[in-house]
Amino acid sequence: MESQPSHHARLAPDVRPMTQDDIPRVARLYAEMINELQEDTHDPYLQIEAFSILEIELSLEEDLADPEARIFVSEAEGAVVAIIVGHIVGTFLPFSNVRRVGQITAAYVQPNYRGRGLMQKLEQHLVNFFRELGLPYADLFVHSENTLGRNTWRALGYTTFREQMRRRI
Ligand SMILES: CC(C)(COP(=O)(O)OP(=O)(O)OC[C@H]1O[C@@H](n2cnc3c(N)ncnc32)[C@H](O)[C@@H]1OP(=O)(O)O)[C@@H](O)C(=O)NCCC(=O)NCCS
Repeated sequence: MESQPSHHARLAPDVRPMTQDDIPRVARLYAEMINELQEDTHDPYLQIEAFSILEIELSLEEDLADPEARIFVSEAEGAVVAIIVGHIVGTFLPFSNVRRVGQITAAYVQPNYRGRGLMQKLEQHLVNFFRELGLPYADLFVHSENTLGRNTWRALGYTTFREQMRRRI
C-alpha cells in the first residue's frame, strides 16, 4: 500500500522577495499575525480599535522602496502562506562598536502550514540578506507570553540577551 505524504512533511518552499503584487495578500497575513498575537497575549500594545489593512499596505509599500528593509514570502499550493519582514536598525547604544544590526520585525506562517520548516527557510533568506550587508547580528522582539514564537526562535539559534519592562502609569 502506498503511504500518503505525512501532514507534517517538510515542504520544499518557494521563497522569494515580496513584490508589489503581493502587498494585499501580505497585508492580510500581517493582520492575521497581529490578531493571533493579540488573542494569545492580550497585550494592550496590540489592542487596536479599528484594524487598518490599508495602513499595513502603506507601510509595506514603504518597505518595498526602502533598501534597509526586506520582505520574503513563501508560497505553497499557489498562494503566499508565510512572510518574514526585516529592517536594518540601530542598536540601543549609539556609540557602541555594533551600531547597526538586522532585525526581524514580523514573521508569520498560516496555521495549516506550520511545523514544516517554512519559517526556518524564510529566516535563512533574511539572515543571508543581513549577512551580505556585513551586519554582525540578527535580533528580534518576542512577547514573553508567546511560547510558540519563543520556542521557534530558540530552535533557530536566538537567545534572550535583554528584557523590556514596563508598568502602568
Ligand atoms: C512562530 C512561527 C512563525 C513558526 O513558523 P513554522 O514555519 O511553524 O516554524 P518552522 O517549522 O520553520 O520551525 C522552526 C523551528 O522552530 C521550532 N518549532 C516550531 N514550532 C514549534 C512548536 N509548536 N513547538 C516547539 N518548537 C517549535 C522547531 O523546533 C523548528 O526547529 P526544527 O526544524 O529544528 O524542528 C509560526 O508558528 C507562527 O506564525 N506563529 C504565530 C505568529 C508568531 O508568533 N510570530 C512570531 C512573532 S515574534
